[in-house]
Amino acid sequence: MEKLTGPKKIRTAVFISGAGSNLKNLIKFSKIKKNPISIDLVISNISKAKGLKYADQSSIDKKIFNFENFKDTEKKILILLKKKKIKFICLAGFMKILSNDFIKIFNGKIINIHPSLLPKYKGLNTHERAIKNKDKFTGCTVHHVTARLDSGKVILQKKIKIGAKDNANSLAKKVLKLEHKLYPAAIMKIFY
Ligand code: GRF
Repeated sequence: MEKLTGPKKIRTAVFISGAGSNLKNLIKFSKIKKNPISIDLVISNISKAKGLKYADQSSIDKKIFNFENFKDTEKKILILLKKKKIKFICLAGFMKILSNDFIKIFNGKIINIHPSLLPKYKGLNTHERAIKNKDKFTGCTVHHVTARLDSGKVILQKKIKIGAKDNANSLAKKVLKLEHKLYPAAIMKIFY
């Protein structure tokens, strides 16, 4: 991806489906002076996604798409992204898999955060699986998005030890905290 040279921020959309703690954190990060992005749009497939309140709190435009007709929805999203001059997409707990065509149009400009040490545990229930397999470490990964689920090139990864008393819940909390450090760090790495 092109490095940032001037003061102009990269117009960014964040896609969410749930609690939106990563969105909240990215909004905070986007307000720091020396950061490369401005968040200009939040997209969700869930109208009741709790995280949407963070868009409201910061007066960021938000839009809900129900994805009933997937192709049609992606077309509409692309039109909106163009209208809003969005150049970069951060997926943050977004539970839909974008099509190859959509990803191609944004060629290399979509990233995602995933709560495991990829390539381990693509998909859901990552913490349960790490515990079940008696792994010693877990963590999170920010990666480029390709049409194959959780499979694009890794940008940054951070790991933590799994304690003897940890369960899926405690791990989810710990890893989420880690995610909030990793996502901004990955964005800095991409653009500087
Ligand atoms: C995070 O664990 C993220 O890695 C995963 O979904 C969760 C979203 O959490 N893809 P939040 O909605 O950002 O709080």
